[in-house]
Amino acid sequence: MKVAVRYYSQSGKTEKIARAIAGGAGVEAMSVTQTPVLDEAVDVLFLGGAPYANIMAPQLRSYAEALNKDHVGQVVLFTTANWSRRTILALKKLLRKKGIAVAEETFFAQASQIDKRISDAKAFGRQFSERDGTQ
Ligand SMILES: Cc1cc2nc3c(=O)[nH]c(=O)nc-3n(C[C@H](O)[C@H](O)[C@H](O)COP(=O)(O)O)c2cc1C
Repeated sequence: MKVAVRYYSQSGKTEKIARAIAGGAGVEAMSVTQTPVLDEAVDVLFLGGAPYANIMAPQLRSYAEALNKDHVGQVVLFTTANWSRRTILALKKLLRKKGIAVAEETFFAQASQIDKRISDAKAFGRQFSERDGTQ
């Protein structure tokens, strides 16, 4: 089962969660600014970011728009925010429009609780990477 974790993070909160998810899944998290395209096919792509004045960063949107449905089994979304899950909703809509499967399960970490959610994020990453790749 091939897993990748990609994120966009301005101040490091989403990055911390991405690293924890990646740790659970046994892979390395990478910023969408480091790796502008997904260069290999994966079964599961964890993708996350945060809202800034209610919208996701353009770098994250561009990354999602450039994804190729033939290279991604399913996307699993995560976000950090003060309160809003809007990034997840917007990404879900964008990806499904492109014909990319998006898992119903998502991970949300409140911005002031990041350090308390690290072990949950790890477990979330582990859970998906342990499933078989047939779904
Ligand atoms: C300029 C700015 C605008 C923000 N706007 C929102 C918002 O509209 N809704 C929300 O829930 N959180 C908002 N936040 C909180 C961030 O989404 C939250 O701190 C997030 O964890 C930041 O992620 P990052 O550290 O990965 O950049 C905002 C933060 C900043 C700095």
